[in-house]
Amino acid sequence: MTKSLFVCQQCGYSQVGWSGRCPSCNSWGSLVETLERKVAKKASLHDTDDETLVFPQSLSKVLSPANDRVPTGIEELDRVLGGGVISGQVILISGEPGIGKSTLLTTVASEFSQKTKKRVLYISGEESASQVKIRSKRLNIKEDLIDVLEQTNVDKVISYLSGLDKDKLPALVIVDSIQTLFTDELTGIPGSVGQVRESAFKLIRFAKKNMIPIFLIGHITKEGTVAGPAVLMHIVDTFLWFEGDLGHSLRLLRAVKNRFGATEEVGIFEMTDQGLKSVSNTKKLFLTKGALKVSGSCLTVLMQGTRPLLVEIQSLVSRSELSFPKRVAQGLDPKRLELMVAVLSRRSSLFLYNRDVFVNVAGGISVKEPASDLALCLSLASSFFDKSLPERTVAIGEVGLLGEIREVPLQERRIKEAKRLGFSNVVSSLNFSFLNPLFKAIFK
Ligand code: TYD
Ligand code: MG
Repeated sequence: MTKSLFVCQQCGYSQVGWSGRCPSCNSWGSLVETLERKVAKKASLHDTDDETLVFPQSLSKVLSPANDRVPTGIEELDRVLGGGVISGQVILISGEPGIGKSTLLTTVASEFSQKTKKRVLYISGEESASQVKIRSKRLNIKEDLIDVLEQTNVDKVISYLSGLDKDKLPALVIVDSIQTLFTDELTGIPGSVGQVRESAFKLIRFAKKNMIPIFLIGHITKEGTVAGPAVLMHIVDTFLWFEGDLGHSLRLLRAVKNRFGATEEVGIFEMTDQGLKSVSNTKKLFLTKGALKVSGSCLTVLMQGTRPLLVEIQSLVSRSELSFPKRVAQGLDPKRLELMVAVLSRRSSLFLYNRDVFVNVAGGISVKEPASDLALCLSLASSFFDKSLPERTVAIGEVGLLGEIREVPLQERRIKEAKRLGFSNVVSSLNFSFLNPLFKAIFK
């Protein structure tokens, strides 16, 4: 039997029989149908799904699982997962259409099967098997241990898998995508919140029971009827977010939630003609070759999780013909740019009132840390004075409203990374306290 359930699109809160605003975050949710599970008249120890007795056990006697983290074979994905997948782990990967989710997981299918010498099942609800084949040909991967299943009925998927002998079960299951799956027990269309929830529940139960890791691809859409990842986020073990600028080749993989590892690690990939490549040498990706001697460029070190990243901030300052000069920021917060322009105009000799200012972060990465303030100011000053910065300069520091240069979190780590990459001239709060003396030292 089905009945209605309130599900919040914002925070994922759900309650049977509720209507109105979400009691948790006060936004409007939607009513979806859901399955009513049979409830025994009298609670008994036999109420669980598989009818086995359940007793509490002493935690000290619970066997800890063997160290069974299996690396996927993709360095940057393993970094984000905390070393690899754990048996029974359910991982949701979400991101914009075309960002490379299917590409990443097709590569995972190949690497994982080759590494473990076991079969991997790729359930494709989105594309036909021949489309999956086209991608795999393009990626030039080993296909012999990958099975493709064109099926969108989750009950049929589960009954197929349950019918297999234990030793014939796949070592990993990939579902592309969870929004295409449906169960006959509900009448809603595939992709509706109820269908997505129920399909995911069924797969998760199967994963936990058989200790098989499952990757789910989840779509994001702004329309209310399609389940956003908020519903799924609560019921999976790990939620990874795949992002990047579609116009650039850079892709970042972040863990938003991870029951089995840290959430601060970031995986870096580059989308190439032959699929996604793990990027461990980040220097190559973010720096423009030879551009360092041109005015308007300054390097800084960002922290992506625990990993320092060297990025280049480029500025162009030109005389404005407009009564409201332009302030254009790409890859960083426009408000931060406005703030720095105001600080520079008021606290240093850089009068930007009648100048158009354009700023860009090279490589398509987006900069959110105040630690990049100093590099932004130096690149603006360098363009303003039309003088390039001394060779091998990196700037690390937050700039306050007084024009003071402040220390930033993990400053030592950042400086160490800059020096490791050969940038010996590091400007920070350690050698300058205010912008003015710094500009005098460099540009006068
Ligand atoms: P895809 O994995 O289909 O994205 P998603 O599943 O997240 O929607 O990848 C889509 C884009 O990636 C597509 O525009 C083409 C590009 N691409 C490459 O640049 N190189 C490749 O080797 C592959 C397979 C795809
Ligand atoms: Mg896809």
